[in-house]
Amino acid sequence: MKNEMAKWWDDGKFGLFIHWGLYSLLGGEYKGRKTDNIAEWIMHDLDIAPEEYRQLASSFNPTVFDAEAIVRLAKQAGMKYVVLTSKHHEGFALYDSQASSYTSVQATPYGKDVVAQLQKACEKYGLVFGLYYSQAQDWDDPNACRDGFSEEGRDFSSYLTKKCIPQITELLTGYGPIGLLWLDTPMYMTYEQSRTLHTLIKKLQPNCLISGRIGHGLGDYMTTGDNFIPALPYPRPFEVPATINSTWGYNRSDTGWKSASKILRSLVKVVSRGGNYLLNIGPRGDGSVPEQSISVLKEVGLFMEKNGESIYGTRALPLYPYDIGWGYFTSKKGKLYIHVFEDKTEAYLLNIANKPLRCYRLSDGLPLTLKERTTCEGDSSWLIKLPPREAGVIDEVICVEIEGDDVVFEPIKG
Ligand code: GLC
Repeated sequence: MKNEMAKWWDDGKFGLFIHWGLYSLLGGEYKGRKTDNIAEWIMHDLDIAPEEYRQLASSFNPTVFDAEAIVRLAKQAGMKYVVLTSKHHEGFALYDSQASSYTSVQATPYGKDVVAQLQKACEKYGLVFGLYYSQAQDWDDPNACRDGFSEEGRDFSSYLTKKCIPQITELLTGYGPIGLLWLDTPMYMTYEQSRTLHTLIKKLQPNCLISGRIGHGLGDYMTTGDNFIPALPYPRPFEVPATINSTWGYNRSDTGWKSASKILRSLVKVVSRGGNYLLNIGPRGDGSVPEQSISVLKEVGLFMEKNGESIYGTRALPLYPYDIGWGYFTSKKGKLYIHVFEDKTEAYLLNIANKPLRCYRLSDGLPLTLKERTTCEGDSSWLIKLPPREAGVIDEVICVEIEGDDVVFEPIKG
């Protein structure tokens, strides 16, 4: 039995992922060697021994980290939840743990609990607080999983009982309600082991959602591959984790920043196929957020401020029979939103069966003319006149109120 999806998640659609840890100090480079993989994997990919890697903790003193500023940024971008890496594969935890002293509180000059700071900030600004926890891989623990290595010679269940279960218990008992526990890379965890975590999480916090990467189909929703958007509407709740550049953890050489329009179009596609979009930032080791991430999120926020209605609370649409290229749809009860990606003078659409009742520009309610006609081939058609686009506007959204709750696309007749 699947857990009922929480309304905040179902309706919220858009969240902020934060990848932060000791790897953030390195920015993708260690002792003159650069990683060519995602930056938070540097310990693994450059094969840095745990005893050596651990020494990084003595440089972790993020004086400019500002949990409230990060949460305000998420809110400004129109995001409804935040997910922080409480412990990534490197094994270092960003909170006060009794199960291991390898934490931001015990092992660093900083000495503070990052999870607690972010939890408080989320509470203050009304965002749901979620945590990422790497339940299977822990490169600091010789008994945990490590990509590229088999389970031979490892006692995974000892890692599970001595570190993973106690730490998850701490996270779910010490920081108030946790909206979501984002588990990752289950690797060779058995069904029983994943089940044990599932039972524990739901026992401690029945309302805490669990990501698909708990493994064995036990998640409350499906998690896609990183940056992978399903090509079709998907019948179950799902979430797409996505980067703003090409890495999760901070990498100073990664300049592949996505534009706000690219991000927004991905968000629209994800939402229209029934999913949520979890977009990442990778703060630097000193706690600052790369400026490019800040500016992109602010730009996304300008769109969301005016057009958020076309994202929040929407549900998957059936597959539209044409690839129109210039736009995309989202929808909720009795409304069809047409996202117009190009600066056009009119939007012409075929095969929408619903009767249009009212048509307007979503950002300001400006009424628009919609002409309905049956084509010579017998298909229904809508012709909507579009006003000139104002400078700086990325995408315009047209709202069409329709007869009937759900959008119905007709099959192509010709
Ligand atoms: C991957 C990676 C990881 C990243 C995650 C985000 O599975 O192992 O580094 O945290 O995806 O989706």
